[in-house]
Amino acid sequence: MSAIMHPLDQLDPLAEYRDQFFLPPGKVYFDGNSLGLLCRSAEQAVLETLHDWKTLAIEGWTDGEADWFHLTERIAAQLSRLTQAPADSITLTGSTTLHLHQVLATLYRRDDSRPHILIDSSAFPTDRYGVASFLRNLGRDPAEHLLEVATDDAGLLREADILEGFRQGVQLAILPSVVFTTGQLLDLAMVTAGAAECDVRLCWDCSHSVGVVPLNLSELQPDAAIWCTYKYLNGGPGSVAALYLHPRWHALRPGLAGWFGADKSRQFRMEPELVPAAGAGRLQLGTPHVLSLSALRGALQVIEAAGVDRLRRKSLQLTGYLRDQFRGRLAEAGFVWATPEADDRRGGHLALRHQRARSLSLALRARGFVPDFREPDLLRMAPSPLYSRFADCDDLVAAIGQILADPPDLPGLSATLVT
Ligand SMILES: Cc1ncc(COP(=O)(O)O)c(C=O)c1O
Repeated sequence: MSAIMHPLDQLDPLAEYRDQFFLPPGKVYFDGNSLGLLCRSAEQAVLETLHDWKTLAIEGWTDGEADWFHLTERIAAQLSRLTQAPADSITLTGSTTLHLHQVLATLYRRDDSRPHILIDSSAFPTDRYGVASFLRNLGRDPAEHLLEVATDDAGLLREADILEGFRQGVQLAILPSVVFTTGQLLDLAMVTAGAAECDVRLCWDCSHSVGVVPLNLSELQPDAAIWCTYKYLNGGPGSVAALYLHPRWHALRPGLAGWFGADKSRQFRMEPELVPAAGAGRLQLGTPHVLSLSALRGALQVIEAAGVDRLRRKSLQLTGYLRDQFRGRLAEAGFVWATPEADDRRGGHLALRHQRARSLSLALRARGFVPDFREPDLLRMAPSPLYSRFADCDDLVAAIGQILADPPDLPGLSATLVT
């Protein structure tokens, strides 16, 4: 690693944020698209909650500062500022998978003459499993009613194919804003408008965009959106996910109901019939996961301070730089680009295919680099605009070059890496 600071790091307006993160000792981290790192304000927020639990016990739910009872709404307000959505159209109650089920149960109409649900062939498995099980529970065969938009020869989704898919007896679609494998960013405006034109209810899975790609939900106006908070939002392992429900659906009864979806002013009347909260809060289920939400509350302060537009700018600069380093130094190494070239077509990570991606990823880990591998041959790298440096990109590419030139003794690595 060079002792001289990389000129781009010297110029980086977000450089100060790196010190706010706990960088795993001896590691160069490129996996923030799977699990973002812990920051000081998240740690502090959890410690405060532990202190409140110690000292206030049950009164933490209602006591002024702690106010766990309204914690979900306070975090929804933070997320609404990040996504330009009305605060009462966002809630948090469980995992992204659970939110998917909530969206399906709330927005799908049994009596619609168009029974199909559309996903894409590169969907994250949970999206496919969730939709299939939902259909089965309705007595509908997924083989018939779960439609998939296929990717093209380059492994990318084409918006025109999605729009065509909307016309195939589809009433509801679950689609990724950024595809988790390739990092392809879809044209959200075009697809959302196309769905509205066909009266298809659309839910974006924004797990790979919120926190690194600006999202204006008020402008976009999808029917729903769901996203993980442990990736680019750094909320911690398994942190509670987010759910957006467009205001036009705020009067719908929740498909899945629980007592925390009640109008908070009367929740403790414990009435036999649910009187739902006014906005997306009605989609909450059980008692909020306060410790997890606390970490997220703290982590979001950093994202808000840095600003998503600035994060996007640096993220694009980092991924662009990393791509150029690959092109310049590893042109003959047998990598195939999975991520689209254009800035407005890629999310926060870069993906490359290589015959021995698995072994390469193991060899990198042995050297302290933490990229991410997805079967069968995908190497994903997500330099975080909050804590990665341009120098880290140089070091990663140099390490790959060294591994290729002098393959370590890992199963399957030496024979083919050099080809
Ligand atoms: C696009 C996408 N959706 C959903 C999930 C997972 O959801 P959950 O938090 O419920 O495991 C992931 C996890 O990586 C994801 O990438």
